[in-house]
Amino acid sequence: MERLYRALENYSREDYYPFHMPGHKRNPGTVDTKLPFDRDITEIEGFDNLHHPEGILKESQEAAAEVYGTRECYYSINGSTAALLAAVSAAVPGNGQILVARNCHKAVYHALYLRNLTPTYVYPQMDKKWWINGGISPDKVERALAANPEIKAVLITSPTYDGVVSDIGKIAEIVHRHEIPLIVDEAHGAHFHFSNYFPVSAADLGADLVIQSFHKTLPAMTQTAVLHNCSERVDSRLIRRFMGIYQSSSPSYILMASIDACMDKMVTDGKEMFREFTRILEKARRRLSECKYIRLVSPEIGSAGVFDYDRSKLIFSTRYTSMTGTELAQLLLEKYHIQVEMQTEHYVLALAAVGDSEEGFERLCRAIEEIDQEESQKKRKTEGQIAERVAYTSMNQLMSVTEAMEAESEVCRLEESVGRISAEFGYLYPPGIPLIVPGEQITGQFIRNMRIYMEEGLYLQGLEDYTNHTIRVISQNTTKEQPS
Ligand SMILES: Cc1ncc(COP(=O)(O)O)c(C=O)c1O
Repeated sequence: MERLYRALENYSREDYYPFHMPGHKRNPGTVDTKLPFDRDITEIEGFDNLHHPEGILKESQEAAAEVYGTRECYYSINGSTAALLAAVSAAVPGNGQILVARNCHKAVYHALYLRNLTPTYVYPQMDKKWWINGGISPDKVERALAANPEIKAVLITSPTYDGVVSDIGKIAEIVHRHEIPLIVDEAHGAHFHFSNYFPVSAADLGADLVIQSFHKTLPAMTQTAVLHNCSERVDSRLIRRFMGIYQSSSPSYILMASIDACMDKMVTDGKEMFREFTRILEKARRRLSECKYIRLVSPEIGSAGVFDYDRSKLIFSTRYTSMTGTELAQLLLEKYHIQVEMQTEHYVLALAAVGDSEEGFERLCRAIEEIDQEESQKKRKTEGQIAERVAYTSMNQLMSVTEAMEAESEVCRLEESVGRISAEFGYLYPPGIPLIVPGEQITGQFIRNMRIYMEEGLYLQGLEDYTNHTIRVISQNTTKEQPS
């Protein structure tokens, strides 16, 4: 089979003159920095069309489906974001109902907005030892579906940003009993397929549509992702329609070639690469778990809905240290030049992937060990300070996302907004899970959480007011009667 990335490489060496887009004309001298202009092309002869694939792109997507053992694989050059928008739009008719895990990424909520869908939320359990989201309980899914027969699809995130995997096999069985499809946001699990060290992919456990960001955990460029169609429960025609709507009509060949090259590499060297990666990762985990104060988190399988756990997520809990997660992340950055993926009040998340080197792990281990040793001289938090300050409670959805985003709204001081209905999203980024969704009633707990985030130097994104002092709420005259 002719590989897209090879064809692009060869083409870049040939003497065809580009009287076509892009405007740099494959001339690297048009800007003062190195960019891969020589192979940045458009849909020219021999290079197919992502929105009507018949040649090299069709073959490339089919080859990716074969790697994962799925029925169809669609490339996304707009990340899992476009793939999630397309999956939800294809699975649920406009104005329909969907069951959604409340800890989903904002892209899922954007799909609710665009298609005016009514969500029923299922909340993840909480791992109270480490204060991270646990899994989604199959029983809760079962109850929600029994209570809402109009639901047309179920969407959950597994693994979560922190690596927690839900019982997909069981959830799929329940969802299919109701004759509807299960969509799994596996944005953080594209690597699962390549080693038994990791949990089993949702694509192998009965999920119908599975979305994976290649760029998050595989050697692929930013924005690359795929949507796997694993069954016939969702119409392929609709998937194609919506992938065409949510993606550029000029998809980047550099990004598509990156997916293609990644798949080719996984087929040829993937086993060996993952064997080595999991060897050095496990060695690092063993070493890191010896630390006394900084605790390497391993959620307990079987508790809080945790069905399995992705060990490539290195979560360092700071609960038993003198520091907050934010302070540890800052120290790692400033003193050790180690940039982590995410920090919260109580932990830091370092993301390991197949591109990591033994030296990289060595640097991380040494830094964490040194900080841990210094902790023995410091005054650590008291029991009271260890207690979780941020508390999550279920939110009351009083209007649909679409209704709320399109209703008349006004700006309100945050402190005075309790009881009002939010007209905006607010989320910490990462992970991009909304803490407040348009249409939800603002609670005192939400305001208290916001204060804590601000003390920590963490600001909500999504709010119009970047300082987080005000929030846009639905105007009083458009507010529906609120339950007492
Ligand atoms: C769980 C989850 N789903 C989807 C996305 C969106 O992925 P992408 O950045 O590939 O668009 C993210 C991004 O962080 C995510 O964490």
